[in-house]
Amino acid sequence: MCACCKPRWENEGNSSSPSKARKTERDVGNAGRMSQSSKNDQPWTFILIQDRERLQAVSGCGTYAGHIAEAAFAVVLVDHNNWSFDIGQAAAYLQLAAWDLGVSSCLAYFGSQDQLKDLLGIPVEASVEIGISFGYSAEQPRAVRKSGRKALEEIVRKEHW
Ligand SMILES: Cc1cc2nc3c(=O)[nH]c(=O)nc-3n(C[C@H](O)[C@H](O)[C@H](O)COP(=O)(O)O)c2cc1C
Repeated sequence: MCACCKPRWENEGNSSSPSKARKTERDVGNAGRMSQSSKNDQPWTFILIQDRERLQAVSGCGTYAGHIAEAAFAVVLVDHNNWSFDIGQAAAYLQLAAWDLGVSSCLAYFGSQDQLKDLLGIPVEASVEIGISFGYSAEQPRAVRKSGRKALEEIVRKEHW
């Protein structure tokens, strides 16, 4: 999904017209909307960030969130319950939909949640640990390297532990 570990995003204007970009954002958001959740609670709000200065400010809320600063757009995932399985699935739906549309993405963990909540006016009781940068990779997206993942035999056991 990550075009590379520290993605370098190309200027949005080089890759996409504004109307195409808005459609991409909508399609990606709709994929997240359709994600499954426990009891169909849909315990999330997706904050779409397009403004360059705000992207830069958001990128300062995590040690390894720098890639958000140059993204075409980003989504901050606000979690309204503490069952992170659901928000994790929504994140995957957003990323897979983007990949299908030729858009790369990268996750970011926000260590400074309070700073981010202040910045975006997010209710204090919500959890906001993860954001996703989306963009058009300045480099050729690399295929997932075999060595980059554990072998299937290492992670699958048959019938019992
Ligand atoms: C919960 C979680 C938090 C992550 N946080 C960050 C992050 O803060 N910054 C970053 O660049 N990548 C982050 N990642 C991306 C992982 O580093 C990446 O998925 C992993 O290295 C595999 O990369 P690949 O899919 O490009 O092979 C995060 C991934 C997860 C699942």
